[in-house]
Amino acid sequence: MTLDAVRGWIAAADRVAVLTGAGMSAESGVPTFRDAQTGLWARFRPEDLATEAGFRADPQRVWDWYAQRREAMRHVVPNAGHLALADYARRHPGRLTLVTQNVDGLHQRAGSEGVLALHGNIVDDTWLEAPRACCTAQAPLAGRPPRCPTCGNLRRPAVVWFGEMLPLATLDAAERAAESCDLMLVVGTSGMVHPAAGLAQVAADAGARVVVLNPHPSELDAVADQVLRGTAATLLPPLLAD
Ligand code: APR
Repeated sequence: MTLDAVRGWIAAADRVAVLTGAGMSAESGVPTFRDAQTGLWARFRPEDLATEAGFRADPQRVWDWYAQRREAMRHVVPNAGHLALADYARRHPGRLTLVTQNVDGLHQRAGSEGVLALHGNIVDDTWLEAPRACCTAQAPLAGRPPRCPTCGNLRRPAVVWFGEMLPLATLDAAERAAESCDLMLVVGTSGMVHPAAGLAQVAADAGARVVVLNPHPSELDAVADQVLRGTAATLLPPLLAD
């Protein structure tokens, strides 16, 4: 019954925004961040692994941790939820804007185009310091992390760490999507990390309906017009079937 009601809201919406978090990829086998049993932070302190200070303190440790995650990402595939979103966007051109906090690239691999990846993509890396003329990532660089052989500048994962700015143009586009949508689906996020989590409130303030899809309570339940208790891979295909 509730599922049908939300399907009706989706059908009536001219613009749909979707905000996804780690739970979106849980059924692909990518661990979430804040799940006590399996979460990535259960074994590590975020400030050691996901901050610039942590990287500067021990570049090799952080690089190796990301190398492990990159390797793990190579063995996972998009789930039915990722595929349903990509398929819906293909069938309804221009209607859906997909905003993700995930760095796993699974939406893109599922075929979604124009994904607004607020926290970057784990496959990319970038220079720690502003690159000089000698810094070129083209040449195969030695080291863990690789470094510029001339000035020693280090490569680092091109993901947004705690305390860092989100890519401005991407955040801007996500805010515009939140302001202009009629309906926002919030999928698999604990809603604890801002500014991404604030997008649901932006959408609600602008008059959009907000629907949370999550098997567990989240910070964004309070913003939602409707909470669907279930997983991304089971809920998205029936919701986006039309
Ligand atoms: N389907 C949908 N949701 C699920 C599923 C599933 N199969 N499994 C778990 N969840 C939900 C959990 O209940 C939780 O609310 O996904 C959410 C995952 O929350 P987090 O681990 O906090 O992930 P996220 O919200 O994406 O974290 C935000 O924090 O550390 C940073 O940069 C990192 O992008 C990340 C950000």
